Amino acid sequence: MIAKNIAECIGNTPVVELKDNLIPHGKRLYLKLDYFNPNFSVKDRTAIGLVKAALKEGKLKPGGTLIESTSGNLGKSLSMLGAVYGFNVIIVVDPKISQSLLKWYKAYGAKVEMVRDKDENGGYQRTRINRVKELVQEHVGAYWPNQYDNPDNPTYHYFNTAKEITALPIDSVVGAVSTGGHLCGIGKAIKDKKSSIKVIASDVEGSAVFRNSFTPYLINGVGLGWRSKNTDISVLDDIYISSDQEAISMCHLLAKEHGIMIGGSGGLVVSSALSWLHNSNSESAVAIIPDTGINYLDQFYDEDWLNSKSITLLDRERLNEEIKHKKSDSVLQGREKVNI
Ligand SMILES: Cc1ncc(COP(=O)(O)O)c(C=O)c1O
Repeated sequence: MIAKNIAECIGNTPVVELKDNLIPHGKRLYLKLDYFNPNFSVKDRTAIGLVKAALKEGKLKPGGTLIESTSGNLGKSLSMLGAVYGFNVIIVVDPKISQSLLKWYKAYGAKVEMVRDKDENGGYQRTRINRVKELVQEHVGAYWPNQYDNPDNPTYHYFNTAKEITALPIDSVVGAVSTGGHLCGIGKAIKDKKSSIKVIASDVEGSAVFRNSFTPYLINGVGLGWRSKNTDISVLDDIYISSDQEAISMCHLLAKEHGIMIGGSGGLVVSSALSWLHNSNSESAVAIIPDTGINYLDQFYDEDWLNSKSITLLDRERLNEEIKHKKSDSVLQGREKVNI
């Protein structure tokens, strides 16, 4: 098939079976490699969902302006779509962003706004959103997709991404949560159409999506200082939370021993999927890998960076111990507390 434009190349990403003795005997773990999207992340899917809905409803017009806050991947995807559909893009970022990402946005012709003040949680997410609100006032008719609360985000995954998941020979799906858009959109479709599949959320220690307090963490793209409206916990069957160290160690193991180089949230998801396979009677799970390790070559794939953050990589044995003994967070916290 010849695509009419690059946006049509989003989705239909490959799935690879992981063969590793970290997987409980007789069980199966598949990796859905969403870094095979044009900008190497699941956010290409979210972006096309947000943009197509806005164009259809007239909230965004060719020649108009789209403004969004992003810690990385969504900005690339929206900037690319601005070039495809002919609208201006302003991306609001914070100092955690890498120089190569900034160049990426600019290469697509997007403008970049950097916030520098931390919010009350010690992160930047709230400051970024406040700056977006100011910019929307300054640019008449500008459209803010608001990936956190806009139902167009999970709705796209409900109607599109979910089909690629439910077609697999699996009894559970494990995914990372930040806005909650991709996992909860897929999860809702599963609950409506194929409820035998369990939906498991993975988050990083420090994030306040499922816990009551926020402390800064290293992994990009995942977690949040609050729980956004697009995190629909009613579709989640279980939750696993891992440390930066565990996620990063998993990334290194997959790169060195399987030639699969994934981002930190992918490391979290694989770790959570393995704990879930150990703790439950699930036989076969798919882990949705949100992005590529190429995004983090100067961060956790760099030895000096690891040293500067005092991260020591866990070896296979230590990783296995962490995974096997990890308790699900919904059990630890009590189902009522996380409202599941
Ligand atoms: C690397 C990475 N991991 C995980 C996520 C979480 O996805 P969602 O916002 O759909 O919950 C994102 C989204 O920004 C991401 O870029």
